[in-house]
Amino acid sequence: MTAVRVVAEDLRVAQGGKQILRGISLRATDGEVIGVLGPSGAGKSTFFRALVGELPVSSGRVVLEGKDVTGTPLWSRARAGVGYIPQTPSVLWDLTVRENLRVYRRVVLGSRSRGLASLFVRRSKEEDDAIVAIANKVALEDRLDVRAGQLSGGERRRLELARALTLAPKVLVCDEPFAGVDPQQATRIGDLLAQLAREDGVTVLLADHHVAEALRVCTRALLLLDGEVATEAAPEAFREHPTVVGRYLGSWQRSLPPPAPVSR
Ligand SMILES: Nc1ncnc2c1ncn2[C@@H]1O[C@H](COP(=O)(O)OP(=O)(O)OP(=O)(O)O)[C@@H](O)[C@H]1O
Ligand SMILES: [Mg+2]
Repeated sequence: MTAVRVVAEDLRVAQGGKQILRGISLRATDGEVIGVLGPSGAGKSTFFRALVGELPVSSGRVVLEGKDVTGTPLWSRARAGVGYIPQTPSVLWDLTVRENLRVYRRVVLGSRSRGLASLFVRRSKEEDDAIVAIANKVALEDRLDVRAGQLSGGERRRLELARALTLAPKVLVCDEPFAGVDPQQATRIGDLLAQLAREDGVTVLLADHHVAEALRVCTRALLLLDGEVATEAAPEAFREHPTVVGRYLGSWQRSLPPPAPVSR
């Protein structure tokens, strides 16, 4: 039986005196991979930031597993199971991959009473093993002791994905997870997202201009235009949809490869 994981109700966001989101609604159940696609400036990142609690909404509601979380902060939604990969780089540059994962794990999973003191507790084997297991998932096991500032762009993106996974999220919000990642790693990340949805029931929201990869792994796709959902369809229909072609893909649509399989 499917369970409703996250609901956005008529979300509106204004920034710098401009209405950026003009009423976005979405209902996502467990195991779905939802592509949120659209041209630059359509409002994809703004929508994601509002959903994860990084940006206040001017009206509307965000409901997580039946609980209204509108107005709650990012860290509290993270603790409630919302993993987030922001579009812009967000690693701690001077810390190693291992330290980045440890800090995040301790800050978000650490006890509320300990606060920042949870950063300085003794390392445990359980914590070390969990970090290695996560690094393995994103093929960073050989880079654990490299400073984040010395990673390639694609490795950094995989660290940000690993960081989101340390929470064992129920909802994973990925803002351009394939950006700066080479094709084989992009396929690998796409497969991993599909696997998390299929095997662990994670609800994945995915924005990316690597449309072929996004459509390969998503179960449905939304087209965002000017802060509104213009259309929604299954991936096969989405790529052919006149509004999608006319307003987003253009003539590039003809170079989209035929849908490649993803194991579900
Ligand atoms: N802090 C801000 N102040 C004013 N306008 C903003 C602010 N942040 C974003 N915007 C505007 O909001 C609109 C949507 O931006 P957003 O980053 O959500 O687009 P996007 O769909 O994620 O684009 P891209 O595909 O390029 O990442 C754009 O017109 C942008 O200029
Ligand atoms: Mg964006």
